[in-house]
Amino acid sequence: ENRSLDHLRAPVICVLGHVDTGKTKLLDKLRCTNVQKSEAGGITQQIGATNVPIDVLRELTKIVRPPKGSQPFKIKIPGLLIMDTPGHEHFRLMRSRGSSLCDLAILVVDIMHGVEPQTVESIKLLQDRGTPFIVALNKIDRLFEWQSNPQKDFWDLLKMQKDHTKVEFEQRLSSAKLQLSEQGLNTKMYYEYSDPKEYSWIVPTSAITGDGIANLIATVVKYNQEIQPEKITFSEELEATVLEVKQTIGHGITIDVILKNGSLKIGDTIVLPGSKGRPIVTQIRALLLPKPNRELRIKTEYAEPKNIKGCQGVKIVAKGLKSAISGSSFLVARCQNEIEILKDLSQEKEILGCIQCEKHGVYVQGSLLGSLEALLELLKQDKIPYSNVRLGNVIKSDVVKASIMLEHDPKFACILALDVEVERDAQEYADAEGVRIFKEDTVYRLFDSFKKHIQNHQK
Ligand code: GTP
Ligand code: MG
Ligand code: NA
Repeated sequence: ENRSLDHLRAPVICVLGHVDTGKTKLLDKLRCTNVQKSEAGGITQQIGATNVPIDVLRELTKIVRPPKGSQPFKIKIPGLLIMDTPGHEHFRLMRSRGSSLCDLAILVVDIMHGVEPQTVESIKLLQDRGTPFIVALNKIDRLFEWQSNPQKDFWDLLKMQKDHTKVEFEQRLSSAKLQLSEQGLNTKMYYEYSDPKEYSWIVPTSAITGDGIANLIATVVKYNQEIQPEKITFSEELEATVLEVKQTIGHGITIDVILKNGSLKIGDTIVLPGSKGRPIVTQIRALLLPKPNRELRIKTEYAEPKNIKGCQGVKIVAKGLKSAISGSSFLVARCQNEIEILKDLSQEKEILGCIQCEKHGVYVQGSLLGSLEALLELLKQDKIPYSNVRLGNVIKSDVVKASIMLEHDPKFACILALDVEVERDAQEYADAEGVRIFKEDTVYRLFDSFKKHIQNHQK
C-alpha cells in the first residue's frame, strides 16, 4: 500500500456545472466549512482549490459498502486536490481553465432542473479536452419526503425511501439521463460499474444533508486509482499552473498555483510569462499552504513549508508577480541548468520576436505561446496575414493598433484573442471603432469563428 502511496499523486478534480447547482455547497459539506455563505450573492466568482488529505477521505468513505463479493474499498492516493469553479455564464474562461487542468471533473446537475445551459457548455469543454467526468445529481433532498441519512451508503438509503419518493427519484433520474443523452452522453448509475469509456457515471447527492457524498468521493477516488493510475503517477518533472494573480494581505501580489507534479522550495527561481510580453524571473520568498481541507481562495491560516511536492494548491509569495498571467504554466531555474532554461525562455521571447509579422494583417493575442503558435500555423495555412502577436489580455492600446487596419483592409481589423480576457474599455473602444474582437479559449473555435467572418466578407 505504501509503495503505491509513494508514486500516486493527489488527482486534480474540477467541479463544474450550471450556476447554483450546489458546487460550492458540496465542497463545504466535504470540508465542514461555509464558504458559500461568504460569497457575494452566493455566486462563485473565482476559481478555488482545496487540498483534501487522505484521512478526510478515509473518514468520509468508511460507510461506503463494497459491491457484493468485492474487497472493501481501499484508498491508494494521498488525497484529492479539488477545484471549485463559477457556474455563472460570464466565467467560461475559468471553467475552461479548470477543465483543462484537471484529471477528472465532477459535473454537478440539479436533479430538480436537469440539464441547463452551462451544463451543456461544461460537457462540451470536457469533451473537447477529453477530460473524464462523473455526474453528481445534486439536491436529492428536495425530492418529496426524502428521508436523509448521510451515514448510509446511497444504495441502502434509496431502498429505505417511501415508494412515491423512489418513483419520483426514478422519474427525475431518467429524465436527466435522457437530457444528457441528447448532449451525446451515455450515463449509468455509479454502482453499475459500466465501461467508463462508454458511460459517464452518475452519483446522486445532497450538499445540504450530505446524502450520497461518501459515494461520490469514493467513486472519484476509485476512478482515479483504478481506471487512470498512470495519469496520476507522480512525476519529478515540474507541472505548475497559475490559477489566480492576486493581492494577499501582508504579502503583496501573489499567485495561487496548482502544483501538479514536481516540487518547489523557498529560494527557487521561477520563470513565468508576463502579460507585458516579458517573462518574469523571480525567487520564491514563501510558500503559503492553506490548512488541509481549507479553500485556497479564502483568507485562512497558512502553513509555511520550506518545500512542497505535487500535487497541491499553494500560494506563492515573490516579487514582481503583478504581470503574471492566470492560466500560464511556469518553470524553475535550478542552479545547474538555470542558464539553459533561461535560454529556452529567451528563445520563447525570440519566437515571439521573430514570428514573421506582415505589415498588414490581423492582431493575435493569447495567454500561452504554445497555443498561439498553433493558431498562427492555421492562419498561415489559410494565407491570412498577421501584423502583431502578443501575450496577455486585450487592453485598449491593442485595439488602437488593430484599428489601423480599418484604413487598409477592414476585414483584417480584428483581434484574435485566445484564452485571454478583454478589458472593458478595450471592448468599448473596439465597438465604437468597428474593430472585431474574436475571443475563444480553444484554437479551433477561435479560428472557426474568425473564418466565418472572413467568408462573410468574401460574399
Ligand atoms: P455558483 O458557484 O454560483 O455557480 O453556484 P454553486 O453551484 O456553487 O451553488 P451553491 O453552492 O452556491 O448553492 C446554490 C444554492 O443552492 C444555495 O442556496 C445552496 O444552499 C443551495 N443548495 C446547494 N446544494 C443543495 C442541495 O443539495 N439541496 C438543497 N436543497 N439546496 C442546495
Ligand atoms: Mg459556487
Ligand atoms: Na451559487
